[in-house]
Amino acid sequence: MSNQTEVHGDNYDSNSGGQTVVKDHATMINVYTDGKQPVLFPSPSLLPAPPNLFIGRDNDMAALRQRLFGEPSTTLITSVRGWPGIGKTTLAAAMAHDAEVKKAFPDGVLWTALGMSPNPLAGLGQWLLAFGDDPQRYQRIEERQNRLAGLLRDRRMLLIIDDVWQAADAQPFLVGGRACRTLLTTREPDVARKLGLPDKAVYRLLVLSEEDSIELIRQLSPESVAQDEQGVRQLVQELDGMPLALSVAGSLLAAEATMGWGVRELLDELTEGTRLLQEAAPADRADLSGQTTPSVTALLRKSTDRLDALTRKQFAFLGVFAPKPATFDRAAIAAAWGVDDPRPAIRELEKRGLLEPYQEDGEVRFQMHALLTVHAKSMWETIANA
Ligand SMILES: Nc1ncnc2c1ncn2[C@@H]1O[C@H](COP(=O)(O)OP(=O)(O)OP(=O)(O)O)[C@@H](O)[C@H]1O
Ligand SMILES: [Mg+2]
Repeated sequence: MSNQTEVHGDNYDSNSGGQTVVKDHATMINVYTDGKQPVLFPSPSLLPAPPNLFIGRDNDMAALRQRLFGEPSTTLITSVRGWPGIGKTTLAAAMAHDAEVKKAFPDGVLWTALGMSPNPLAGLGQWLLAFGDDPQRYQRIEERQNRLAGLLRDRRMLLIIDDVWQAADAQPFLVGGRACRTLLTTREPDVARKLGLPDKAVYRLLVLSEEDSIELIRQLSPESVAQDEQGVRQLVQELDGMPLALSVAGSLLAAEATMGWGVRELLDELTEGTRLLQEAAPADRADLSGQTTPSVTALLRKSTDRLDALTRKQFAFLGVFAPKPATFDRAAIAAAWGVDDPRPAIRELEKRGLLEPYQEDGEVRFQMHALLTVHAKSMWETIANA
């Protein structure tokens, strides 16, 4: 085991003999060092830590394993899509550390998180570093891509591209060879479409079940479930299985219980929903470069700020008008907006992952997640007060 390092990064072990090799590697690569400073191979910081708390998702993990390396082998690229805060990144991080994934991709896992303003040159540079290569030798994006494509041609690696907002942002990272698979995560259905992926390449991540939601709260705040299980059940129903909201609620409840106070009052406030919006998102959503933690609202606004002014207003108004649960048919949306043809704005909202079409009795209806409904309503209040 000594003198070896693992591409997953969790068994990083530099050596003193001037060489580092990849463990379990079909074709061993030797990376030469200057004898003192071992080359970082691969960068152990490339992968996010495994999730601290990971409730449920067994079926999702199994479905993704099947898509990525089950038989028959399906598409080379899989897009995981779902509502803001539904747990896409968390699921991808769990996949990156999954024992079966490591077995299926013996050459390792590469990870990049794009966000809204990605830096492809730096991201590709990180991947080159993971191979012990010197990114400075390749100054242009295309050069880095070519080099990576060469390195990945005969390797079995999983490439994870997290938090994609534009198809074009993901494009530079599609450098996997035939034995590689790529997993990307995004809020927006438009990304897979623009990448030309077939429907079967898209995995829609859904909300947590009611029992898993209660378990999430229980893990963070066992006292509140012990004190008022019925109240917690009502809360998780209101939050409709959204891990982002559940995590924030769980931490607030835990803090309240630590003070020795009953959780009833806070449960009532949280069940309202609006209280949650102003709260800071969980610590794993902190912006490390800016040393700040966004509020829940700020995370949701990443999607709604992308809308043009009119569509944003229409989205906000849906929040006011939304029934519980928030589902609509086209005629109801047209009536709420006072327009003859609501399709252009519906299309835009669907594209941005803010409205989800589904079939019921042969008819198309549209759903908005409960947390987005609360967000929309509060957007409307701001608009109305302006
Ligand atoms: N299965 C889970 N168990 C426990 N906590 C979870 C789970 N999934 C997600 N979370 C928590 O919920 C929050 C949101 O999750 P995550 O960041 O993965 O969502 P996302 O879908 O990637 O969001 P975004 O659309 O903003 O990228 C995180 O703080 C995360 O720790
Ligand atoms: Mg994410």
